[in-house]
Amino acid sequence: MKNIKAYIFNAYGLILDPYLPFLEYDEQLGDNIEEIYKLWLSKRLQYSSLLSLMNQYVNYEKIRKDTLDFACEVYGVDDEEIKSKLLEHSKIDCYPDAKGILTSLKDNGLKTVVLSNGPPQILSSTLKRVGIDHLIGGVYSTELVHSYKPSPTVYEFMGEQLALPRKKICFVSSNSWDIAGASASGFYSVWVNRYNHISERLSYKPDLIIKSLDELSPLI
Ligand code: LAC
Repeated sequence: MKNIKAYIFNAYGLILDPYLPFLEYDEQLGDNIEEIYKLWLSKRLQYSSLLSLMNQYVNYEKIRKDTLDFACEVYGVDDEEIKSKLLEHSKIDCYPDAKGILTSLKDNGLKTVVLSNGPPQILSSTLKRVGIDHLIGGVYSTELVHSYKPSPTVYEFMGEQLALPRKKICFVSSNSWDIAGASASGFYSVWVNRYNHISERLSYKPDLIIKSLDELSPLI
């Protein structure tokens, strides 16, 4: 990876831990807590991908709200106060391994940017609140192109922004579907498989699979 000149990181699931707000409601959500969270994630991906396929755009905060509503209805959760608390960004923090790698990349003079489906203002204020904004050289949201990952429009846009050959850009994501999109667009890709998920059967594979961002530091 010594020829890599810039890094793109996804936000939620890689740098920022979006499960933290759920932990405050483990009693109220009971045994279904993980299932609600997993259904929320997969519905979110389904809706955002369907919209991109339909060439339509709905703001990501609305998709988050609608899909949480869906997942909660499946598991019989109808408490509006809990639902609105689960959507709050203020309880989200960064993963313990995020600061170290972002610091190493900056110290090595490598550009690191964030690309997320989340809205730009929320991303920027969250990264600032958790104290890592100074380590990041640019925050990009798919809102800028009105299309969601893994639409090729998004990866093309990032390639243009960084203005480097694709193989000199390392795309790091916690989502295997995001990695498939980045690999299909020609980026060098690293899947951070934090939760030991089974590999996708998609043709576009990661160049490297690691379990934590700590494993990336020795390779840069
Ligand atoms: C992100 C989510 C989708 O784009 O992982 O940050």
